[in-house]
Amino acid sequence: MKILACNFKNKLTLPEINNYIKELPDLNIPSLELILIPSLPYLSEFMELPYSLGTQDISSFMDKTITGEITGEQLKSLNVSYVMVGHSERRLYKNEINIDFINKINHAKENDLKVIYCIGESLEAKENGDTYMVLEKQISEVLNNVNIKDIIIAYEPVWAIGSGKTPTKEEISETVEFIKDIIEEKYDTRIKVLYGGSINVDNIEVINKIKNLDGFLVGGACLDSNNVKAMLLKLML
Ligand code: 13P
Repeated sequence: MKILACNFKNKLTLPEINNYIKELPDLNIPSLELILIPSLPYLSEFMELPYSLGTQDISSFMDKTITGEITGEQLKSLNVSYVMVGHSERRLYKNEINIDFINKINHAKENDLKVIYCIGESLEAKENGDTYMVLEKQISEVLNNVNIKDIIIAYEPVWAIGSGKTPTKEEISETVEFIKDIIEEKYDTRIKVLYGGSINVDNIEVINKIKNLDGFLVGGACLDSNNVKAMLLKLML
């Protein structure tokens, strides 16, 4: 089943979210899974909808009382089924590191939540020809320490996020294969890989032609529910 995951980041106010929900396409496509990942305060607005629900964060502490944190148990009670971990914006602005990702993944798994683990190279790494080395490091330093079951990888080159630039179809295809191969080699399992970074209504169809790509993690373009509908229709083609 192909996945369209929509990461709202810290966008939209409550009235905007309510409008968004009203305008969401009533598309029940058996071959597609739509995962909506709004900011934490709005999760309950989405919990009765017939789509999968994800969260952008979970506490890295499982059994502590901590102000401002959210637990797996709370997320479960909101019908959340996916947790994003490792997004480059959290690596960059919140200084999150491997131990945080390991703890968050373990916390999610303890509550039967699936994980979307985000990885991706910086522009500098790409220009130095270090993409695969960086990706392998991001994979092994975290996934060696968790149970790999129910983890999806989102490949999001840092330089492609919000920039209007994407790698070529061939580059994405080769990188997706590289990720799947090293995970199979290391953990003896074949996992799903999504692509994220400047995906929009115009380019999703071409990139969707990539064999072995399991779907998309979309940011900006998802903030308009008409785009979500248009992208879902293109994924059906
Ligand atoms: P954009 O689609 O806005 O480039 O964001 C991608 C992203 O970061 C999704 O997690």
